[in-house]
Amino acid sequence: MPSMAQNGRVTTDFKQSNQAHNSNAFARREEIRQQRESLPIASVKERLIEEVKKHDVLIIVGETGSGKTTQIPQFLFSAGFCREGKSVGITQPRRVAAVTVAKRVAEECGVELGQKVGYSIRFDDRTSGVTRIKYMTDGLLLREALLDPYLSRYSVVIVDEAHERTVHTDVLLGLLKNVQKARLKSQDRKFPPLKLIIMSASLDARVFSEYFGGARAVHIQGRQHPVDILYTLYPEKDYVDAALVTIFQIHLEERHGDILVFLTGQEEIEAVERLVQERLRQLPESNRKLVTVPIFSSLPSEQQMRVFMPAPDGHRKVVLATNIAETSVTIPGIKFVIDPGFVKARSYDPAKGMESLIIIPTSKAQALQRSGRAGREGPGKCFRLYPESEFEKLEDSTKPEIKRCNLANVILQLKALGVDDIFGFDFIEKPSRAAIVKSLEHLFLLGALTDDCKLSDPVGHQMARLPLDPIYSKALILASQFNCLEEMLITVAMLSVDSVFYAPREKLDESRTAAKCFASPDGDHITLINVYRAAEDLLEKRKWVPHTERNEKIFKAKSEKIFKRWCKENFINGRSVRHARDIHSQIRGHVEQMGLRITSCGDDMLQFRRCLAASFFINAALKQPEGNYRAFGTGQVVQIHPSSVLFQSKVECVVFNEMVQTTNKYIRNVTRIEYMWLTELAPHYYTMQS
Ligand code: CDP
Ligand code: MG
Repeated sequence: MPSMAQNGRVTTDFKQSNQAHNSNAFARREEIRQQRESLPIASVKERLIEEVKKHDVLIIVGETGSGKTTQIPQFLFSAGFCREGKSVGITQPRRVAAVTVAKRVAEECGVELGQKVGYSIRFDDRTSGVTRIKYMTDGLLLREALLDPYLSRYSVVIVDEAHERTVHTDVLLGLLKNVQKARLKSQDRKFPPLKLIIMSASLDARVFSEYFGGARAVHIQGRQHPVDILYTLYPEKDYVDAALVTIFQIHLEERHGDILVFLTGQEEIEAVERLVQERLRQLPESNRKLVTVPIFSSLPSEQQMRVFMPAPDGHRKVVLATNIAETSVTIPGIKFVIDPGFVKARSYDPAKGMESLIIIPTSKAQALQRSGRAGREGPGKCFRLYPESEFEKLEDSTKPEIKRCNLANVILQLKALGVDDIFGFDFIEKPSRAAIVKSLEHLFLLGALTDDCKLSDPVGHQMARLPLDPIYSKALILASQFNCLEEMLITVAMLSVDSVFYAPREKLDESRTAAKCFASPDGDHITLINVYRAAEDLLEKRKWVPHTERNEKIFKAKSEKIFKRWCKENFINGRSVRHARDIHSQIRGHVEQMGLRITSCGDDMLQFRRCLAASFFINAALKQPEGNYRAFGTGQVVQIHPSSVLFQSKVECVVFNEMVQTTNKYIRNVTRIEYMWLTELAPHYYTMQS
């Protein structure tokens, strides 16, 4: 059985005898059985099954941790909903939740993952023909509908975490409503009625119930212990530092119990991880019994399960999480919550057609969910790192994502599903007309739509097939024409993961010097390619040795070791690079299937930069006399982000992929281009502008 070593890494104890293993396995099964029986949902199993049988749409509201996600699909399975090869599908807004819950449920059922219980998320499918309980992201089910418009393999679809109101959840609800109607109308026995369950942790089921014509809602009583809420006296200037101080205050002064800290993203989590390690080294040996465990969406799946494992004996665990731990995953053992009160969110300005990621205060509902995590198993404490007066100023609940994101992706998918009239689509909450118009315009500029707003052939259809942001899908299609698809595949993979470089505050100079070895004077895209290729070289260097199984193992271990050292020396995030390699191989598979020509432009980076200009022309910016840049499309004044290789350079014209807004508006992932290329390669846009 896996156990945690002193340094917090997961190790496997191979020395266990078989007998010990058997009794361990027995004890584990017994433990799981008891845990399941003590969940609040266990006592209402029969009633729930009856409700599902009676109603085609059912809304289930229950506190986080009551057992909705892990238990209800198993109840339905045992009640016969998976007869005749049908499955129960459960959607999650987040990848990590789909993966960790599927693993847990497979363990509860005593089956291997990918057999009866599996998961499927973008770029990672662990299901098979015999899978009957399938966890997946909401986005993935939307894509499945492209191939199977009746979702015929499912007898029940459960939309979980509906209160999160991600754009995919909202669109999926509309789609499922249509599928349900279509199945009812169909006389074909292949399509029995579809049962729909909407699960939510928020008490307000009204909006869902109304949307489904007054659908029935049931509430599951949770178990919640009292949680002391503590506020700071004054606003904190640096919430990362405040969180750090609070972690150690709890560690040194409070009774036992694990800590959960809510941070905004991978970069911040990894920075805090390093800072905790560093401060620990300054403490006396006896006070060092603290282990950190990160959890965020792009964490490789083999590392995700670590949050569920207990800390080694006598140690305290600090879970550093994004808002994923608010309701999506329930982590046992938490007694203390640290809530800086911020979250990273998408924000879209339809007037400018620009989407950006911003860090904003949480809503009251989120703050309550976060503090609730401290009281699952007993009384707890929540440290809100802001003054009490600030709480009152928070919004009551989070605005649905569909109201604050670029809709191009969703519209492309709806069009591919045959929904041509986007304005007439029955959204649970309609996005603004301006946002729809702007996103249609965006798709039109990318060549995905014809003049009468239909999907264009072949570009629009090809774009809809790729599981990527439309602008990236288009970049791949163009790259095959520019003979640089190999380079673009790497670029898109690297742009799809979180920061590849890290720059710890205390080693800023060192990390910047290290990053220079990969830097291209042309910009970040080519720099990312350089990093990717260098990593690939290290990980696949064993070509010259004879291919035997033993050799493979030795060299794999050796190259892994070299890779780790190389990452450390060069301040490169190994996790991100591995993730990018994964994504790369998946997208490569897609474009091969589509019959695109994969060739490399070799050293001709001019060709590649021209392709970047042709692909990302919507995001181009020109240097202004005072040194800032002005984005063409939106007219916004922006600066090149300090993490870019072009920071403080004097280049005239650039294309970029991302805009982040902190105190200033920054553009990231930037490449130098010639202004003239824009009028040549995107005349439909640039003649219109001038
Ligand atoms: O969906 P809901 O929040 O109602 O609860 P759940 O996710 O079904 O979790 C039920 C219980 O399973 C919780 O007590 C979790 O701690 C536990 N669980 C776990 O131990 N390991 C997982 N990977 C997932 C859940
Ligand atoms: Mg759940």
